[in-house]
Amino acid sequence: MSATRSATLTSPASLLAILAAGAVITACAGARAETPAKGEKPYVVAASPEEAGAYLVRAGSCDDCHTPGWPESGGTIPDQDRLAGSPVGFRGPWGTTYPANLRLSASKLEARDWVTMIRARNDRPPMPWFSLHAMSDRDLTAIHAFLRKLGPKGQPALPAVAPDREPTTPYILFAPVPPKAASASNTPARAPASADANPAIVGGHMAMAMP
Ligand code: HEC
Repeated sequence: MSATRSATLTSPASLLAILAAGAVITACAGARAETPAKGEKPYVVAASPEEAGAYLVRAGSCDDCHTPGWPESGGTIPDQDRLAGSPVGFRGPWGTTYPANLRLSASKLEARDWVTMIRARNDRPPMPWFSLHAMSDRDLTAIHAFLRKLGPKGQPALPAVAPDREPTTPYILFAPVPPKAASASNTPARAPASADANPAIVGGHMAMAMP
């Protein structure tokens, strides 16, 4: 009986089975190593940091603002033309801001300084700083790796324009427009001529939207 058993265990098929089991155990251990530690923020697992960054940037819609024409193209602009900033400003109560050239920003900063810069900033809209702050250091580093892979390109974005100054470039007005029924004047950039015309709108969104 024992002789039969040892013969079975040392047969080539059994050895293969043992090796396969070992491979499965090793793979599981590898997967476990990718699980965030207790209390650690979640992060994306990919074949490389660059791939994780590419995924995060696409899923995080960074191109919506940082790549001109991205939403209109349905997200089909080739990598070489992406994320080099936009000459079209976003205008609102904060003034007019221009989406930064992220390829230049990443090329100038080492990964650790990139993360520190992002964690320290909470400035003007419509940049969703809160979304970046929600990411783990590992994910922010992955975005940096992807931007480095794209490489530096283009010019730095224009400096922001103060709220009381008129921008010299085209801009997108980030402001709610009242429905026609609520106001005879439906001009996005202006509140109704008289506050009496529609006090609710003047006191609410429309007033906030005044550049
Ligand atoms: C709704 C538009 C919008 C979206 C979406 C957006 N950004 Fe921005 N981003 C901006 C604007 C505008 C600025 C410039 C802000 C300023 O001048 O204060 C900016 C600035 C930045 C900066 C500062 C760069 C520098 O060198 O000063 C970083 C980093 C950045 N964005 C990263 C990202 C990433 C990563 C994503 C995607 C997860 C993203 N942004 C999505 C509009 C946007």
